[in-house]
Amino acid sequence: MILVTGATGGLGHETINCLLATTPAAEIAALVRDVRKATDLAARGVNVRPADYFNYAALVHAFRGVEKVLLVSAVAFTDRVRQHRNVIDAAKEAGVKHLFYTSIQRDTDFVLPEVTDSDLATEAYLKASGLVYTILRNGYYFEGLAYLIGREVPEAEIRFPAGEGQIAFVKRTELAAATATLLTSEGHGNQEYTLTGSVAYSFHEVARELAALAGRPITYRSSEPAPYIAQQVAAGLPEPVANFFAQWGAAAEHGMLAGTHDTVARLLGRQPTALREYLKAAYFPV
Ligand SMILES: NC(=O)c1ccc[n+]([C@@H]2O[C@H](COP(=O)([O-])OP(=O)(O)OC[C@H]3O[C@@H](n4cnc5c(N)ncnc54)[C@H](OP(=O)(O)O)[C@@H]3O)[C@@H](O)[C@H]2O)c1
Repeated sequence: MILVTGATGGLGHETINCLLATTPAAEIAALVRDVRKATDLAARGVNVRPADYFNYAALVHAFRGVEKVLLVSAVAFTDRVRQHRNVIDAAKEAGVKHLFYTSIQRDTDFVLPEVTDSDLATEAYLKASGLVYTILRNGYYFEGLAYLIGREVPEAEIRFPAGEGQIAFVKRTELAAATATLLTSEGHGNQEYTLTGSVAYSFHEVARELAALAGRPITYRSSEPAPYIAQQVAAGLPEPVANFFAQWGAAAEHGMLAGTHDTVARLLGRQPTALREYLKAAYFPV
């Protein structure tokens, strides 16, 4: 039995969709905190098991009879380390053999607050747990680009505090497909994989591709963090959120998300989605 946590979220749900293509539903379990959001999974025969990462007893109960767990990391700003430790301890107590953890890509030693620091603590805890582990260092989602540059095609300019930094964006659905393949194949015990797109792009390239698709000039201008944050706050974003997005810019500028790794391409058996293809589908749907 393979159990996927965060099964009502983007990555977890899509990982289960991919698992269902190769694995009988009776061998798949979904950990959810609200079963009402998982009726589609239950209807397809997936074992839906309720538990919150904060509820240790419910986690132990949910993990009974499970061999492998995919721990989809908890959301930033919610005491991630405590939640992840609970999941790891409960998995061990319930007799789980192998735990996969979704960390963030880390090609440099830049520490993104609320993300890298809690990933480092979780990875160390998992490695010391005695469970067989697999660490998946996921690249920045293409789907997350909208948080950084907006959901609409920019009028004429992208302003973001990322300097010349690059990101090896990867589609969340492709991460899910790669993860499902790792969960259902052998040889990944005590391994660490960085799962990214095959090309890293600067925000100049994002602007250039959008300009080509829109048929009008769009440029990128890097900003200092403070004016970017002030501009976002003036536009209605809560300051901690604007600050957090600016930190992703700093992470990009420092190269944390820039490394390209061929693992996703190998697991998919094809090149992952490229920037222009993603932008066309997301910003210029037909
Ligand atoms: N690589 C990237 O670009 C990137 C971007 C954003 C986030 N992330 C990280 O990757 C994770 C997965 O991404 P995603 O897009 O799938 O995020 P998502 O759509 O927000 O899904 C997160 C999932 O975790 C579940 N969850 C959160 N807190 C929980 C708790 N206390 N107990 C049980 N379940 C809990 C949520 O349950 P509900 O459905 O009940 O809310 C949801 O199913 C995120 O949680 C975050 O750590 C990575």
